[in-house]
Amino acid sequence: MKKRVIIDCDPGIDDSLALMYALSAPELEVVGITVVCGNVPTDMGVENARRVCRLMGRQDIPIYAGAGAPLSRPLVTAQDTHGMDGLGETHIPEVTEEEWPHTRFSEKTEAGGFHVHSDLPDAVAFISKALSEEKLSVIAIGPLTNIAMALQYKPQIGENVERFVSMGGNFKSFGNCSPVAEFNYWVDPEAARYVFEHMECPVEMVGLDVTRRIVLTPEMIRGLEQLGDPKADFIVKITRFYVDFHKKQEGIDGCVINDPLAVGYFINSDLCKGIDVYTTVETKGLSVGQTIVDEKGFWKKKANSRVLTRVDSPRFMRQFMSALFGSRGEAVLR
Ligand code: RIB
Ligand code: CA
Repeated sequence: MKKRVIIDCDPGIDDSLALMYALSAPELEVVGITVVCGNVPTDMGVENARRVCRLMGRQDIPIYAGAGAPLSRPLVTAQDTHGMDGLGETHIPEVTEEEWPHTRFSEKTEAGGFHVHSDLPDAVAFISKALSEEKLSVIAIGPLTNIAMALQYKPQIGENVERFVSMGGNFKSFGNCSPVAEFNYWVDPEAARYVFEHMECPVEMVGLDVTRRIVLTPEMIRGLEQLGDPKADFIVKITRFYVDFHKKQEGIDGCVINDPLAVGYFINSDLCKGIDVYTTVETKGLSVGQTIVDEKGFWKKKANSRVLTRVDSPRFMRQFMSALFGSRGEAVLR
């Protein structure tokens, strides 16, 4: 049985790899892609998600634009990391309306007894409606603004979220937006805190503690170059800028690909170990965006999260490359 999922993302280079993975994995049925402001402004993220779906031959997937700004603060993008175009300054031709008419969330009326406020972003309306109709899982790999808005608009949808996997936060690993904060939760800490406090199921937090171990190395990139596969060529192309950034910023050879691990872990949670614990997010002051993980139960609050602490990264890479390239994926990892 395929697992039906919504992917909420801010593509973004590693988001694009995660989308490619999710669209290739036989275990998943992606029922919709929702885009949130984060790495890049929302409309650019929508265009990049469309570019990835075109590459994957998946123009059947509805893509909806979400929140254009965080709940209560201005957007700070990560275009220094992902390029001004969000895909490593590759300026890949956009998907034209003729090629693939934009998906609009048309039920913005009383149609079917589902009424949304006209100012509700399409993605939020879609998430609310989809989760009103069936149990689904959500893999969130960007800031949590869309998710928080959907829960605020229709709190009861939380009961229909089978699993909620979020790439974000950090437990014992240092931050990437400040000494203590990770980008997705730092961009919209109010949304992150709201989701941790209001999601019925535990937030399965795929944070920097585990994603920093997922490195696309120069050797793997060379392996991809030799595959002669359009998907491999795309990965090589969009990660070049990202590799340069990682060398300069964190002295890493290669690049950390955070978001694909959220997909890989959703498919096979044996890849990671974690702790069931109460977590919240700081929303002000110097440590704004920091995930506060109450490992010792100091506040005696019910566990609302599974915070991942270890990952079998070679096993993840095999799983990732095999989903994308089948048996040829092994050649990339030799
Ligand atoms: O901190 C890493 C996360 O922030 C990743 O999801 C990356 O795409 C950005 O959204
Ligand atoms: Ca992301």
